Amino acid sequence: MRIIGTGSSLPKKTVTNDDLSRFIDTSDEWIRERTGIGERHVISTESLDELAMDAANKALEDAGVLPTQLDYIICSNMVNEYVTPSLASIVGGRIGSQCPAFDLNAACTGFLYAMDVAEVMLKSGRAEYILLISAEEPSRIVDWNDRRTCVLFGDGAAAVVLTKGDELKAIKVSSKSNKSVLYYKRHLEPTPFVMRTKDAGPLCMNGKEVFKSAVSSSLRDMRYVLNKAGLTKENITYFVLHQANLRIIDFIREHFEADAAQFPTNVEKYGNTSSVTIPLLLDELNRGGKLRKGDILVFSAFGAGFTSAACVLEWNKSAKE
Ligand code: UT7
Repeated sequence: MRIIGTGSSLPKKTVTNDDLSRFIDTSDEWIRERTGIGERHVISTESLDELAMDAANKALEDAGVLPTQLDYIICSNMVNEYVTPSLASIVGGRIGSQCPAFDLNAACTGFLYAMDVAEVMLKSGRAEYILLISAEEPSRIVDWNDRRTCVLFGDGAAAVVLTKGDELKAIKVSSKSNKSVLYYKRHLEPTPFVMRTKDAGPLCMNGKEVFKSAVSSSLRDMRYVLNKAGLTKENITYFVLHQANLRIIDFIREHFEADAAQFPTNVEKYGNTSSVTIPLLLDELNRGGKLRKGDILVFSAFGAGFTSAACVLEWNKSAKE
């Protein structure tokens, strides 16, 4: 596969750490020190499908591809207002595409899972152009009275357009089942046969366990893909990591004994936007003119499941003016 366009879209409303400290027992100092986060964007008047549509249109425009040329739309999403139809289907209608469209949920790792699926479709000849969107609104599933979770997340959408190419050098996706450390149980209607309704939501997380799992899986996955691609850290222009927590990223970077400039971050401005973080950071790098043809990038993500994934790919797109 080759990435030929990127785009992103964020909610208008920003919430700073000081804003949060007005209604929960927290502080800017604590949040910055433990997470690196300064503020996040959260959905208020807009809807997630509007953000997803905006990100998709920007990515298509960047790629010079029309919605009618798309063969598939895959949307990485954990939760949104609609269980059905899929978010991908809704966005397909909004951008004027009639191609097959479906959602995929691998929590924060969803973007890389979707890349893996897209690669198979492109390789098999089933598709020429695929639109891959990550769109997430974690602000709608956290308890805004729980300082251990609500300070971490932000909402947004980001998209890439993919076509055939041999720029993906290696990819590894994995899943190790554990539903007690990070989970959100949705409300289902009671039936004459199932009366259980009380144990639904909000998002529950054992932060320390997630932290440990994130560091170990990310290190393992990145070593695997680098080895598979026959590359070392010196060959890598940027490690584009899931932006969950600056401490996790610093920990991983120190393990790699890599340069801070090789690990760009934006978690400071957006918090953890789940599967959106990697395409959002990629779009910033692309539109900020930071990427050159021939750059080698490593992506690495981890999240509920536990899922994790990493890949190595070459950037082969002209710099954005
Ligand atoms: O995409 C994957 C999603 N999840 C993650 O990436 C999360 C990974 N884990 C983490 O990032 C960290 O574990 C956290 C940032 C969530 C928490 O940091 P920590 O260093 O593991 O803190 P902790 O949970 O051990 O809590 C330390 C103290 C506790 O107080 P006591 O019991 O020592 O009195 C917490 O109650 O900090 C308290 N605390 C807070 N204080 C102020 C927890 N959250 C807050 C807060 N503000 N927001």
